[in-house]
Amino acid sequence: MAVFRRGLPHFAVGTVVKGFGRGSKELGIPTANFPEDVVENLPEDIGTGIYYGWAKVDCGPTYKMVMSIGWNPYYNNKKKSMETHIMHVFDNDFYGSELRVVMLGYVRPEKNFKSLESLIEAINSDIAEADKQLSLPELQSFREHAFFLKKSNAACHNGISNGLADGILSNGIANGHQANDTAISGSSQDTIVNGTIQNGQVS
Ligand SMILES: Cc1cc2nc3c(=O)[nH]c(=O)nc-3n(C[C@H](O)[C@H](O)[C@H](O)COP(=O)(O)O)c2cc1C
Repeated sequence: MAVFRRGLPHFAVGTVVKGFGRGSKELGIPTANFPEDVVENLPEDIGTGIYYGWAKVDCGPTYKMVMSIGWNPYYNNKKKSMETHIMHVFDNDFYGSELRVVMLGYVRPEKNFKSLESLIEAINSDIAEADKQLSLPELQSFREHAFFLKKSNAACHNGISNGLADGILSNGIANGHQANDTAISGSSQDTIVNGTIQNGQVS
């Protein structure tokens, strides 16, 4: 039984939008940005900072991820963002794709850094911490959560994804968290509450 920080696990889904592109170009650590409405719908309990969890693009596999929420003090952004670095090397950009994430743990607050190198070093250490935590069996189980098996993207509706035929699961959730936010098992049968529909993508 895992014990979660207040507000977690948090499930979010949205279409990947363009950020400033610095993640790939300057940091060598690409991030996928959620649109404004997903960021604005974050519950109060989820403050700015660095989180880890699982992520899935369209009908693809579910990968480990790290996420930064906030104003990126190093770059002094004017708009709050929610940027996911998926711990997998993708061949192409996936702007316009559907991104599903579950945030399971918090690593640290956002910080300013004296150099780009120290920002990169901090992110790499976040990735190592995420890798370690997500290998724990109680967090591994979220990889198979019903949220990730619910296929809302049109491209997924014609076939079989993740070994499961279309439409066999009905307890979908978008941008919300589970009823019991302190201790849950992470089974794919968990009851989900507080779900709201975003972008018309979740049926
Ligand atoms: C795991 C992780 C941790 C991050 N930590 C910080 C941080 O502490 N301070 C900061 O200014 N930006 C932080 N960032 C944000 C990066 O600066 C950001 O991803 C980069 O500016 C790229 O943004 P862009 O794709 O919108 O250009 C972090 C990003 C990730 C993925």
